[in-house]
Amino acid sequence: MSAIKHDPQTAERTTLSGEPIKAVYGPEDVREHEANIGAPGAYPFTRGVYPTMYRGRLWTMRQFAGFGTAEETNERFRYLLDHGQTGLSTAFDMPSLMGHDSDSPRSLGEVGREGVAIDTVDDMSTLFDGIDLGDVTVSMTINAPAAMMMAFYVVAAEESGVPADKLGGTVQADILKEYIAQKEWCFPVDPAMRLLGDMMEWCTRNMPRWHPVSISGYHIREAGATAAQELAFTLKDGLTYVEQQIERGIAVDDFAPRLSFFFNAQIDFFEEIAKYRAARRIWARELRDTYGAKNPRSWLMRFHTQTAGVSLTAQQPLNNIIRTAIEAMAGVLGGTQSLHTNSYDEALALPTEDAVRIALRTQQVIAHETGVTNTVDPLGGSYFVEALTDKLEEQAYAYFRKIDELGGMVEAVKRNYPQREIADAAFELQEKIDAGDRVVVGVNRYTEGDDGETPILRIDPALERKQIGRVQAVRARRDGAAVERTLAELRAAAATQANLMPLLVECARVHATEGEMVDALQHVWGAYTESPVF
Ligand code: 3HC
Repeated sequence: MSAIKHDPQTAERTTLSGEPIKAVYGPEDVREHEANIGAPGAYPFTRGVYPTMYRGRLWTMRQFAGFGTAEETNERFRYLLDHGQTGLSTAFDMPSLMGHDSDSPRSLGEVGREGVAIDTVDDMSTLFDGIDLGDVTVSMTINAPAAMMMAFYVVAAEESGVPADKLGGTVQADILKEYIAQKEWCFPVDPAMRLLGDMMEWCTRNMPRWHPVSISGYHIREAGATAAQELAFTLKDGLTYVEQQIERGIAVDDFAPRLSFFFNAQIDFFEEIAKYRAARRIWARELRDTYGAKNPRSWLMRFHTQTAGVSLTAQQPLNNIIRTAIEAMAGVLGGTQSLHTNSYDEALALPTEDAVRIALRTQQVIAHETGVTNTVDPLGGSYFVEALTDKLEEQAYAYFRKIDELGGMVEAVKRNYPQREIADAAFELQEKIDAGDRVVVGVNRYTEGDDGETPILRIDPALERKQIGRVQAVRARRDGAAVERTLAELRAAAATQANLMPLLVECARVHATEGEMVDALQHVWGAYTESPVF
């Protein structure tokens, strides 16, 4: 066992993102004016979006879940609700995410593998069978074909007796971060932005309880971004959607209160807490002062947090329980409204029931045993946290200026600017890990011993054949002429400036499949090919 060497204070320390950290922070490090911090539930919301935060209501425990066909995921939803989960979060399989039907040749081997297979409104009805959609809020993590899934969801809920204006929940739909980081697209950038704009506008008018976009930093961070890049690129994406809705003639206070966000909780505890606090302050200032929002609810930046998938290791996987607990604590001390905790086995596969129960119990221990919910923003006023909050805010604005110089975020994305910044940051961090300068326990230090065999969730290949049979049965029994007619109308409307949501809802109602709707739009708009950067 190596002796614990004296650590000379001269050794530079940095955050995970490379931000230098002083040995001691004091009053001189915190920007003087108290207004910069403010009070919980009051502008600029640095300390939290609600005056009472978790004393008023705990965050929503919302575990991302989905695999197999709609039946298997419905069972997992019920399991999680039975174990105390308070919101639902749907993970779709890759064919659904990319707009392919389960019986498409491009779906072979992927159906139900990393999420639930949803091809038609019938599958959506099965997915939520026995769950009161007027009572629980549902999140759907789907982006390029989000409008099609929303159409399925609205029709399925309507058929179960819940009208659209009673539905509470969120659809991710943040298409800019797909070109930046997650790479799950169907259409070229401009028509994809149009389709998102149509859905946001339609939801504003028809679904007052719905969050029509979850502006996401999670995948940007998972792609290797620094905390400042995650903060800046996410907020700039959000401001781009705000500008788009205003350009459509929609008053900012009509839609801004239902915008929502989604951030990563990485392993650098204080950097993450500072990131969320800076995000709330920037968003409040920009909505009030730049975009003229008058309703204080328009200034709120409400967000979901997921602990960092990239921090999970396949080596010594039980260590991931510790990482996830610390990351979840950062999300809570950072004031999240909704939280997903990763399961310890997720560096290896989708989580088993046992693993996901431990992940959920992690949230419940934090909520009920640690006392951190007893007071709002307990770290507020910390010299270090406030100084780091100020620093991240400053770095975000530097990125905003650069993106504005490039002509805005859509132009910057087309020019691969955020993509290149992230690739550079990812490379730099990996070099530190490979050199052992950034310790990853069990991977590049303390590698002795292992956790033995880790139980793995295996997806039965028979589920793919079952799902293919289901979508083909829907095609066989539906009114084919009605489907052809509504798809033709969709194609025609795609070439105009009409809002496409009403037609997508009509397509869902006549049992058109997701793939057929995506194909109809690609027929008019074309597909997208990335020009990658290295
Ligand atoms: N005082 C007063 N009111 C309070 C309160 C308090 N202390 N706490 C909560 N409330 C109220 C809120 O105002 C809200 O009422 P409203 O709907 O009328 O405004 C209600 O109680 C519910 O509270 P929240 O809105 O704070 O919590 P929700 O859970 O309902 O919503 C959200 C949170 C972030 C706004 C929402 O958008 C959400 O749930 N997002 C989740 C997104 C998600 O799950 N994403 C997962 C993606 S997985 C992924 O992409 C990763 C994969 O790709 C690998």
